[in-house]
Amino acid sequence: MTSTVRVRAPGKVNLYLAVGPREPDGYHNLVTVFQAVDIFEEITARSAATLSLTMSGRGAGLPTDESNLAIRAARLLAEHAGVPARARLEIHKNVPVAGGMAGGSADAAGTLVALNRLWGLGLDPATLRNLGAELGADVPFCLMGGTAMGTGRGDVLTPVLSRGSYTWLVITQHEGLSTPRVFSHFDSRRHQPRRPVIDERFVRALAEGDTQYVGMNSRNDLAGPALCLHDGARQVYEAARSHLALPTIVSGSGPTIAVLCPDDDTALSLGEYICEHTVAESAFVAHGPVPGAHVVDES
Ligand code: C5P
Repeated sequence: MTSTVRVRAPGKVNLYLAVGPREPDGYHNLVTVFQAVDIFEEITARSAATLSLTMSGRGAGLPTDESNLAIRAARLLAEHAGVPARARLEIHKNVPVAGGMAGGSADAAGTLVALNRLWGLGLDPATLRNLGAELGADVPFCLMGGTAMGTGRGDVLTPVLSRGSYTWLVITQHEGLSTPRVFSHFDSRRHQPRRPVIDERFVRALAEGDTQYVGMNSRNDLAGPALCLHDGARQVYEAARSHLALPTIVSGSGPTIAVLCPDDDTALSLGEYICEHTVAESAFVAHGPVPGAHVVDES
């Protein structure tokens, strides 16, 4: 019988994010293109008599009580399957906290995959994604991975053909940003609510592997609000753009900034420059797309 399952779940960047008006449920209709990147949460689930959670890495010090999305994922899965919620969860966080890279969602996605295996439930990916959507808009994508278009809240997914590999310099901040706050700021700046759309040429560029076009035409409606709310992110964004003039994006609702680089060496030297000249917390190289939450080991 399986007593330990190890899972990796990726963070993401949004290559495209067009936001529409706020709906009555408080969420915004949007059109986004997610790309999963090789910054992984490592989730270990072990058999135990009760449900518990410990967090390390970037997660050290975060609440591990019932408010934690991983605990909520475990409870939801147990309830759905009609089994007792018993497991010891350990999450080593590598994805920035409150950084716009879906770290909390990756924790939830990884927990669903790990416990589905540990508890021998055999639920299919679509069922896990539906459960994930109850936990947060980005959870289904952290399960699916790769490159996908998200509509609705971002939780209605269609895989997108994407050729080629993307090399990113990912730059984090000491202080995170609250996603609801960024959306609220977006609402307060908006004059005329518009239906979110995606440019066909952008989707074609993804399929053709035209990474330059994708980088140069990336759109994020939350970038303005995020940069307005976060001085450090604005400083990094401006420094990155002016230093090498490479495509620079705000990841989701920020404040993490990602710079599309031609290769690892360019990314590393830009990272050194950024860390020396700005208030950035850290800068590291990441690649995408990569698979969604998956089991790496079990015993
Ligand atoms: O679904 P999740 O809990 O990750 O969303 C966090 C918050 O981000 C929501 O409570 C909402 O304020 C905002 N949000 C939104 N529209 C979306 C996704 C998120 O307004 N499509």
